[in-house]
Amino acid sequence: MLEASPRMAAYDDFAWFYDRYWNEEFHAAAFPILERILLPRLGPRAHLLDVCCGSGYLAGLLTERGYRVTGFDASPEMVRLACARAPEARFEVAEAASFRTRAKFDAAVSTFDSLNHILDPAALAEAFRRVAAALKPGAPFAFDILLEAAYRTDWAENFTIVRDDHVLVISGSGFDFRSRLAHCRITTFRKSAGHWRRGDTEVVERCYESGEIDGMLRDAGFRDTVCYDARDFGMAGQIGEGRVFYVACGR
Ligand SMILES: C[S@@+](CC[C@H](N)C(=O)[O-])C[C@H]1O[C@@H](n2cnc3c(N)ncnc32)[C@H](O)[C@@H]1O
Repeated sequence: MLEASPRMAAYDDFAWFYDRYWNEEFHAAAFPILERILLPRLGPRAHLLDVCCGSGYLAGLLTERGYRVTGFDASPEMVRLACARAPEARFEVAEAASFRTRAKFDAAVSTFDSLNHILDPAALAEAFRRVAAALKPGAPFAFDILLEAAYRTDWAENFTIVRDDHVLVISGSGFDFRSRLAHCRITTFRKSAGHWRRGDTEVVERCYESGEIDGMLRDAGFRDTVCYDARDFGMAGQIGEGRVFYVACGR
């Protein structure tokens, strides 16, 4: 149903670590926000499209509550983990700016600054158009996105995890105000069958301005757009800094 992504994605090498160390902490803070701004708008068996679904943690929370979920992500490895984590949901490998679907969804969702990973503004605008086209009339799209305040903090501060069979090092992160790009270098080592395997990932995010996002949503046909500061919903600490949640309704 959805278009396959032909190339290896940035998160492939990092997927196992992401799934283990990032999911729970983020969604413990983000899911209660979706429970306030999105889920009350949905019927009990609503069908949601999870855009850039990662390793399926959110899809798992949603299917546990009886929702139907179709998710897609550019990373085949993230999608493989998602299939294992949320077997009741459907997942595909696809790019946000080129996915296609015949189904019409009751809602769409995209979490954990996934949309900041789309570096070309034209591609983000196209992703919004495709999400709008995938929604039933008036259906909501909820997503979070980081604004400049997030990148002015220690957005991806250097840190290291060392365990007997895996090591993760985050280093070399930083935000360039001219290009509006934030870079974060991640080196991983994982021991399997007695051998260590090294992975190198560079996560790059683009900082969009709220006026740009509003304009792209409008041009894609979204209306009744509301933007919430994550901190007003209790998302404390660095994870909530500069993060906003949008809800916009399809045409
Ligand atoms: C920070 S993770 C968030 C994953 C998930 N939404 C969550 O809340 O846990 C960002 C995800 O976006 C995916 N991604 C980045 N660029 C993408 C694109 N252009 N199309 C589809 N997925 C993309 C990555 O592969 C990664 O899984």
